[in-house]
Amino acid sequence: MDLHKDIIRPLLFKLDAEKAHNLAVSSLSFASTFPSLVRGTLGAKPAKNPRTVAGIAFPNPIGLAAGMDKNGVALPAWEALGFGFVEVGTITSLAQPGNPKPRLFRFPDQGALINRLGFNNEGVEAVAARLERLHTSGRWPGIPVGLNIGKSKLTPAENAHTDYLTSFRRLHSLGDYFVINVSSPNTPGLRDLQSTEALGKIIRTLRDWEGTPRRPLFVKVAPDLAEEDLVAVAQLAESEQLAGLIATNTTLDHSSIPTGRDQQGGLSGLPVRPRSLKALQIIKKHSTLPVIACGGISDETSARERFEAGADLLQVYTAFIYQGPGLLRRLASANSSKDFSPT
Ligand SMILES: Cc1cc2nc3c(=O)[nH]c(=O)nc-3n(C[C@H](O)[C@H](O)[C@H](O)COP(=O)(O)O)c2cc1C
Repeated sequence: MDLHKDIIRPLLFKLDAEKAHNLAVSSLSFASTFPSLVRGTLGAKPAKNPRTVAGIAFPNPIGLAAGMDKNGVALPAWEALGFGFVEVGTITSLAQPGNPKPRLFRFPDQGALINRLGFNNEGVEAVAARLERLHTSGRWPGIPVGLNIGKSKLTPAENAHTDYLTSFRRLHSLGDYFVINVSSPNTPGLRDLQSTEALGKIIRTLRDWEGTPRRPLFVKVAPDLAEEDLVAVAQLAESEQLAGLIATNTTLDHSSIPTGRDQQGGLSGLPVRPRSLKALQIIKKHSTLPVIACGGISDETSARERFEAGADLLQVYTAFIYQGPGLLRRLASANSSKDFSPT
């Protein structure tokens, strides 16, 4: 019997999508006190496939994408489930409730989700305090933890750089890598920060404060950027000596969703796969930086295509909702085959 497919998913899918998400994350938060229980019942036991990217040692290259554990409440559980790394956030400098509900929608026939959550999170102070407690408790996970930061909705665009700095400063000692998220479609104007001028200002503000040594810093991009804009971001990231890029966030192209059922928001899962792959290929053609590939990775084939296109690591979100921890087993077996052995 597959515990996720036969029991957990049918129960969760009876609930509204956001209620199911909250129940799953709070259960995993509770279970984080007993990681061996999680490992024994649900853990995927992925093949060990270590690699070092941006100077960080990853036990396996399959990570949990940002947005699942926005407040960093279940880190030991993600490790116990078999993830090779986890990205917390998006965290904003100010606590914020996000958009009105409902704001998360399932499309099982398309293997997709649409969300317009709008960076609901407890704010940097509460998240940082939680991460500090986890560090001192001795329960900090043995996998790398990325911290993904975004602009608070109330902060005007012209102050975006100082808003990112507030979060970066508070979190600086607490994560293994950091992500500047300028690609979520649900905060008005956020994607405009992907322009080289705005993004360059944010990067330089963080770096000027930081001095040396520097923490690994990634930029997460949208799959909807025009090719020349993507190339410009990749070249900026390279010239600013960032650790790499995450390609990609959700898409605003909803052409795969039947019109009567469409919802406003970012579309993730199978429909975003071709766009995310294309973005990865463009970045790899124009830069030598590492890339964490994300978007529509759901099986051995879609994982293989990203590694073949030059991805260093992968992240999953939507397919994990549909397939549960068994997904990690499937991807790990793809990854440990001959073509996937680390170089
Ligand atoms: C419900 C939901 C919430 C998300 N929240 C965030 C977020 O807060 N920050 C972020 O960078 N990406 C967020 N994402 C995007 C994912 O991290 C990922 O980039 C995207 O879903 C594509 O991957 P997938 O097709 O495997 O889901 C979210 C995605 C979903 C479905």
